[in-house]
Amino acid sequence: MSQEKATVTLSSNGESSEFTMDGGTKGIPVLDIGSLYKKLGVFTYDPGFLSTASCKSAITFIDGEKGILQYRGYPIEQLAEKSSFLEVAFLLMNGELPSKLELSGFTDEINDHAMLHEALRTFFDGFHYDAHPMAMMVGVMGSLSAFYHSELNMEDPEHRRISAMRMVAKVPTIAAACYRHSVGWPFVYPRVDLGYCENFMNMMFSLPSQKFIGMDHYIDPVAIKALNILFILHADHEQNASTSTVRLASSTGANPYACVAAGISALWGPAHGGANEAVLSMLSEIGSVDRIPEFVAKAKDKNDPFRLMGFGHRVYKNFDPRATIIRQTCHEVLEKYSNNNDPLFELALALEEYALKDEYFIEKKLYPNVDFYSGIIYKALKIPVDMFTVMFVIARTAGWVSHWLEMMAEPDHRIGRPRQVYTGYDTRNYIPENER
Ligand code: ACO
Repeated sequence: MSQEKATVTLSSNGESSEFTMDGGTKGIPVLDIGSLYKKLGVFTYDPGFLSTASCKSAITFIDGEKGILQYRGYPIEQLAEKSSFLEVAFLLMNGELPSKLELSGFTDEINDHAMLHEALRTFFDGFHYDAHPMAMMVGVMGSLSAFYHSELNMEDPEHRRISAMRMVAKVPTIAAACYRHSVGWPFVYPRVDLGYCENFMNMMFSLPSQKFIGMDHYIDPVAIKALNILFILHADHEQNASTSTVRLASSTGANPYACVAAGISALWGPAHGGANEAVLSMLSEIGSVDRIPEFVAKAKDKNDPFRLMGFGHRVYKNFDPRATIIRQTCHEVLEKYSNNNDPLFELALALEEYALKDEYFIEKKLYPNVDFYSGIIYKALKIPVDMFTVMFVIARTAGWVSHWLEMMAEPDHRIGRPRQVYTGYDTRNYIPENER
């Protein structure tokens, strides 16, 4: 069967050239325009990458129209129901679900790498007590390369694997340390007898004066299940802004800790991972159900920068499958940890219902995304609001390192270097200072 082609003709000079259609195992076909400049002397212009695939990847598949999300072919609904975060991390990084023996070896290795170098602990002293935990995350993650430079030969697959394992293992320890620094509590070491999520909660909340596990509700299976689900849902999302940042930084050959630190910075923004924090701020600002129409009107007003946080998605245009799963989890958690009449949750549900009936939101296909609910769950689990994006970092590190591993294993990877449309001055002559 002949390969489908598309012809591009420049109306300015009548020159034309053929380009082949390419595609993966499923999903939208792509037009391979890599030789466009060479053949026709023009670039493409696609701000925000609305129509541009930046790479080939076998990790995650999304069909935004149908609301499908799959990791390595497995539907997110099945993974959220049946798997654990560490099993999903193994799947993303290695391509297959682990055998029992493989999972136990993976878990042991994660436990082995979970501690931080003692010298790294002193880094936190350099941060003011009210530093945003995301600022500390960026700095401390980037600094890890200073401790492991003997294993940074990126041509060596074993060095790459160890670097990836280190980041997945240490990220909850760093995250908890950021919180402990902000409240002035001593750091807590990771424990090998606890699962990934339990360990994180123990490092967050246990006090020298109180044995945490067994005394408080965080060991409760409902809380641990909710965390596992949230981490699984947030683990990867193909070429989102932060993952693309990690890939772009990696394309220069920079070390993986620095590249993941760049990903953390990109995730911080309210249009991306900062959205769950922004949802909580927005709900507090709205305050009560009767003020919803006023805020929805603000969100629709083009002269007002206000947007409904937790609504809309670049890829999902009918529903976000993660939001459907998390909505159910949200109910379970609130049933357990707050009374069912939590005003914040009631407000969120009322806002969701109101916006979904509104013509503007229907027409523009704006639905609640995963972060509309994740912030409410984290709040119920007593995670401080400014740690919400950090929670996202813990989960997404598994995705970032998987994309990095995939990219670094490719035989030839080029530096990522977009072109631009120059809109500045034409050539002009320098004017001496006394003549300006
Ligand atoms: N509230 C009000 N209007 C919105 C919203 C919103 N939350 N989101 C999009 N719109 C409107 C836009 O104004 C635009 O209107 P126009 O066509 O009249 O100009 C239209 O819908 C399309 O929106 P874009 O911004 O072009 O969509 P894009 O794909 O670029 O942005 C994004 C997606 C960034 C998620 C956007 O919907 C948004 O800002 N949402 C709120 C922030 C948020 O929840 N982010 C989390 C994303 S999920 C994640 O990172 C895990």
